[in-house]
Amino acid sequence: MDFKLLNNTPLYRAFSEIGKRIFLPDGIFYWSGRAKKEAELVGTIGSAFGYERDFIDDGEDKWVPCYLKEIKKYTNLNIEKIVPYASIGGLPELRKIWKDWIIQKAGFNSDEDKNKKIYLKKFITDPLVTAGVTNGIYLICSLFLNRGDKIILPNKRWGNYDNIIVKNIGAQIESFEFFHNKKINLEALRNAIKEIDKTQEKIIIILNFPNNPTGYVPTKQEAQELINLLQQLQLEMKKPFIILVDDAYEPYIYNFQEDILDTSIFYQLQQLEEDIIPIKLDGITKELLFYGGRIGFVTLGLKPNWIQDDNLLSALKNEINNKLEGFNRSSISNANHFYQTVAIKLFQEVGRKRIIESRDKVKILLEKRCKKINEELMKIKSLDISIDPNSGGFFIFLNLNPNKIKATEFADYLLTQHKVGVIPMENPRENINGIRIAYSSINLDQIPEFIERIKKALSNF
Ligand SMILES: Cc1ncc(COP(=O)(O)O)c(C=O)c1O
Repeated sequence: MDFKLLNNTPLYRAFSEIGKRIFLPDGIFYWSGRAKKEAELVGTIGSAFGYERDFIDDGEDKWVPCYLKEIKKYTNLNIEKIVPYASIGGLPELRKIWKDWIIQKAGFNSDEDKNKKIYLKKFITDPLVTAGVTNGIYLICSLFLNRGDKIILPNKRWGNYDNIIVKNIGAQIESFEFFHNKKINLEALRNAIKEIDKTQEKIIIILNFPNNPTGYVPTKQEAQELINLLQQLQLEMKKPFIILVDDAYEPYIYNFQEDILDTSIFYQLQQLEEDIIPIKLDGITKELLFYGGRIGFVTLGLKPNWIQDDNLLSALKNEINNKLEGFNRSSISNANHFYQTVAIKLFQEVGRKRIIESRDKVKILLEKRCKKINEELMKIKSLDISIDPNSGGFFIFLNLNPNKIKATEFADYLLTQHKVGVIPMENPRENINGIRIAYSSINLDQIPEFIERIKKALSNF
């Protein structure tokens, strides 16, 4: 494929060597597609097909993908919806459903937001289906990061980013101190961006709200200040800013605190005219509480100043899609068909309204726990601990005074002496020493006891 349009965008300039190199060759798909339309006898499909009657007792006179009859014991889904390969970029139906879902999640419902909604619809790509959000993060990091390139992340972050970026890809993390006075530390972020600007022709940042491990979600004002900062720096530097928006926990935003940003920051970034290019990484794993389903999505926000003409815009989307499918084809080949079908059924047969209603039951549980654990932790009067700002997700982070309490030793002490399990995070180089508590897995009535034991441990440690 020729990337005539993509080659002239700032997106392409930001690509890694792999990003520039990768594409999905026509090969098998070209010939299978043609055969479907033109051939009388088709010998192109690389999976076993046959008349059902020839391999299943009492099978029908139907030409179907061959399958083991025992499989039917475990599902009543149509065999043709689970057995064959799914398309490389994901089932078209699911990609469309998820695009509509992304548009719904923006909450652009008022008359005032009408144009924003039109703009959103027009300037995002069709979501690519990946094997969970992790796979999407890996794909996008590979698309932009060469060995040795730098990407900006807060010091408190999901540990698997380090595995993907540093250990797997061989790139580097420019870490910034996440909070100052219980707010996002925009000065530290500014410094990190300025540092990268000295050596790199692209600025790449991951934002993850609600955050793992802190549960932090910005207030609307903090989000606006963050956006202002990005706009100001992009204007000065005139380089593409690629913003990976890890929306794994997107719906779990608890509104017991005022002014919290209650939609993904992707939506505000997508509306910006500057080359601040947001990439949305989300999925059914946490959003639909279907972790083992391993279905994630990658969606890019595009800019009108790259291309105005509608036909060219759709050609550009095709070029981007070809690159992303090239990644899928050369890594996972395609995502799980069974769970894509389940997701389609959920949306088509259950519907968005009931999905949200069912999930809200869980969200309410989590919100109550979040409120409770904050209240209980606040009761501990100690100068050796502090809680990071939090109003969403699955976790809360308790900072410990590094001069007195080493997080790993404390976690071990908590476990052995008080039978309480938490995740310690200790990294003096990045100024981290604390424990992550996953209240997602603690029932409300156990929270007071859980925190009481932490309190006891703190006084005896
Ligand atoms: C911040 C963050 N991003 C992504 C993921 C991975 O999501 P998935 O299970 O869809 O791969 C997690 C899972 O823990 C996470 O905490």
